[in-house]
Amino acid sequence: MRSLEKMIPANPKLQWMEDELKRLESEGRLRSLKNTELTADGCLVREGRRMLNLASNHYLGLPLAAPEAGAPHRSGAAASRLVVGNYPELSSFEEEFASFKGTESALVFGSGYAANVGVISSVADRDTVVFSDRLNHASIVDGIVLSRADYMRYKHRDLDHLETLLKREAAKDGSARRRRLIVTDSVFSMDGTTAPLKELVGLKERWGAILMVDEAHSGGVSGDEGQGLVHEQGLTERVDIIMGTFSKAYGSYGAYVAGAEVLKRYLVNHARSLIYSTALPPSVIAATRRNWMLAREEGWRRERLRTLTEAFRARLAASGFRLIEGDTPIVPLLVGGNESTVRFGEALQARGICAIAIRPPTVAEGTARIRFSLMAVHREGDLAEACDTIAEEGRRLGVI
Ligand SMILES: Cc1ncc(COP(=O)(O)O)c(C=O)c1O
Repeated sequence: MRSLEKMIPANPKLQWMEDELKRLESEGRLRSLKNTELTADGCLVREGRRMLNLASNHYLGLPLAAPEAGAPHRSGAAASRLVVGNYPELSSFEEEFASFKGTESALVFGSGYAANVGVISSVADRDTVVFSDRLNHASIVDGIVLSRADYMRYKHRDLDHLETLLKREAAKDGSARRRRLIVTDSVFSMDGTTAPLKELVGLKERWGAILMVDEAHSGGVSGDEGQGLVHEQGLTERVDIIMGTFSKAYGSYGAYVAGAEVLKRYLVNHARSLIYSTALPPSVIAATRRNWMLAREEGWRRERLRTLTEAFRARLAASGFRLIEGDTPIVPLLVGGNESTVRFGEALQARGICAIAIRPPTVAEGTARIRFSLMAVHREGDLAEACDTIAEEGRRLGVI
């Protein structure tokens, strides 16, 4: 276990994970990650011992030869992390990333989709009820379906509705035995809205639930060094499972789950998308580490993104467009009808502006929209000009 400057007290909501790990151990079925260094001559070094590597899937030995061919990092991890794919750079990256997030541990997954599906289907089962914001990402929905848990959707950001569902569940006979999981995006990908995290933490504590937050769109963007929205709001120790991706602000690929050490050990033994999938390659982890460092150090990117976002939102609103309220760089402009939205999107592309028309079933019927997403490298002048063009086309097509 990592030594923490400030030990976080054990989370009683996760005690059942500890019990399950003890059970696996007593049956001789406990798995753990072992640092493994592969060598170009078909061997490996594990726990200080050099062994012949008869466990790799790199049949032609290709990525192992890559350093000699000039590539600084191997392009492949050879196998699942539980076989021989747990290379030292991955473990050290996880340790450093956990301390950045302020959690006991972090576990890297192949992608955000794999993380959500793997985590939710491990933490929830037939005896669990999952309360999920109805605008949560598809990978969360798929994780819930795969878990076979009882699935309750609450209205978007509607705390009263969520509490009604939590109360109804608590009133049921025998429901005390059911595990409760509340899951939410921190920033909703199609609406750019933000979850009421403080209130969700209050509800999860009042009703004895586990809370999972997907920080896909706030990692790198929120927090003084990009630690995310949970950290920015001082809630790290009160959120049980924090998940995020490296594919968005971090400009790389892969994902992480941050939380208690027991959560990591539990997932290593249960999350099928981790156990039965090849580890992310060293080349990807190296790129992620590089971008993560840049994101931490270059606070001007976050600052600039905020300034550009405010100006962009204000300009479009002043032209009379209906925007979904928010302060994130995801700016949805509501059009309504599917065909008119597609026509608007095509007109913008013809004028040199690429933004995607989003229609049902990705969003609710009658709420088709153009989704703009901003970047710190955009130029003020380009965005101002784009807003004028968007307004011209909006007027021409009767959107405003
Ligand atoms: C909220 C949210 N969670 C998870 C994912 C999946 O992440 P990835 O693209 O890394 O699989 C996405 C990306 O589309 C997302 O928007």
